[in-house]
Amino acid sequence: MINALTNMTDIRLTLKLKSTFAFVLLFAGNLTFTIQSCTTPEPKQNTNETERANFPISIFDSSLIPVNSFGDSVRYGRELLLNTAKYIGPEGSVSKHLGNKMNCTNCHLDGGSRPFGLNFFTTFKSYPQYRGRENAILTLADRINNCIERPHNGTPMPINSKEIMSIVAYIKWIGSIVPKDSALISGTSSEITLPLRAADPLKGSKIYDSKCKSCHGATGAGILNADSTTYIYPPLWGMQSYQLGSSMHRVLKAARFIKSNMPHNEATWNAPLLTDEEAIDVAAFINDDEIHPRPSKKATTAGDYPVSRVKPIDYDIPPFEDTFSSSQHKYGPFKPIIEYHKTNGIPIVY
Ligand code: HEC
Ligand code: HEC
Repeated sequence: MINALTNMTDIRLTLKLKSTFAFVLLFAGNLTFTIQSCTTPEPKQNTNETERANFPISIFDSSLIPVNSFGDSVRYGRELLLNTAKYIGPEGSVSKHLGNKMNCTNCHLDGGSRPFGLNFFTTFKSYPQYRGRENAILTLADRINNCIERPHNGTPMPINSKEIMSIVAYIKWIGSIVPKDSALISGTSSEITLPLRAADPLKGSKIYDSKCKSCHGATGAGILNADSTTYIYPPLWGMQSYQLGSSMHRVLKAARFIKSNMPHNEATWNAPLLTDEEAIDVAAFINDDEIHPRPSKKATTAGDYPVSRVKPIDYDIPPFEDTFSSSQHKYGPFKPIIEYHKTNGIPIVY
């Protein structure tokens, strides 16, 4: 019990201390910190087979959650990650903060516990963190609210709400049980070899028809469950899908997720089904704004990346720190952009 309380106090304290820390750094204007922390870390995937075999495909085992009040928080956080819409969706029983019926686990696979499936293995310890999109240092609670606002097209929850606190507790717990010495925890999504050509939405549409349509549907709208409260297969575009300001809307970010995880439960990080080029083409097709509408909240995205030198290379809204067009930032070829950034000392983020 004492332990449990210590743990919860620990989280509250962490949130509080971290905000203070953020405040100090923000005003100190520490540029070195800025640039280092927003560069995507290179995931190490050259692990040997034994290590892969020893690392469970999912560490999502709720029986490991402690039986105390910290554990209660973790369990509720886990429940929220898996059944987000049920609690805080448009028809949620607790609140109506989400604008769509997707669940966090639709992207943070197995509740953020799958290697290279947008996991939360090292998340807890990497916040507070500088974020180029806001040009500010965000706490973990702020970052969670980012996903509530963006892919979920919703409104932020109070950071001291039971829900946010519980998601933080859950993410802390995941970080505490993951094997620390495994190279498989070093990346949230797979690395990808960038092709010399631009991503091709037309080629991507053929891949979509043969490898994705059966679940996500011909209109990309996914398939709702029996009582229409959430999805069996989540949407990939349309007004019920993630919005324009979401990370998944960026071609490279989406391709890296798709490569190691889609088609769902067939592809894995160590046995992907799509080639890197196919993953990039299908990501381009899904995120082609000329044919696939999605929600756009100008008020949320208008001020994104106020410092353009820290923009990800696959973010297509000008102004840019380099000389490339909006279309090249969206679809590539990305190698010339990377070369330009290297030559001119501009951070390479994707
Ligand atoms: C449409 C997909 C999608 C959905 C749904 C989604 N996220 Fe995310 N989330 C992302 C992507 C993409 C990132 C960026 C990961 C990266 O940069 O590697 C991210 C990042 C995060 C991070 C930061 C992780 C880190 O280590 O820096 C947190 C925390 C997070 N999401 C929480 C949530 C929560 C909680 C929900 C549900 C309320 C949610 N997300 C729903 C796609 C999604
Ligand atoms: C067998 C069914 C199935 C197939 C085939 C499939 N998916 Fe998925 N996909 C899913 C499910 C289920 C999820 C949500 C995972 C979860 O909740 O655990 C998902 C999630 C996603 C997501 C993140 C959530 C979202 O809606 O934005 C993307 C992106 C995605 N799939 C893309 C693809 C692409 C691209 C293909 C084809 C290469 C594909 N999927 C093929 C079932 C499938």
